[in-house]
Amino acid sequence: MYVCVCNAIRETEFRRAARCMEGDAESVYATLGKAPQCCQCLEEADELLAEERALERRPQLVAA
Ligand code: FES
Repeated sequence: MYVCVCNAIRETEFRRAARCMEGDAESVYATLGKAPQCCQCLEEADELLAEERALERRPQLVAA
């Protein structure tokens, strides 16, 4: 699935980049060497960003 059709940014690519950096969706796009064009994707991209970072902060269970 594409997060951003204009830039052909896939969800997996976006999530991976989101885990490696701070900032909003536009910052993640910039890390990928892209810039928003029509901007219709930014709201959903910011939601994915928040979701990915929440997953990252979730405590991990460790098997004994
Ligand atoms: S769909 Fe992302 S800038 Fe157009």
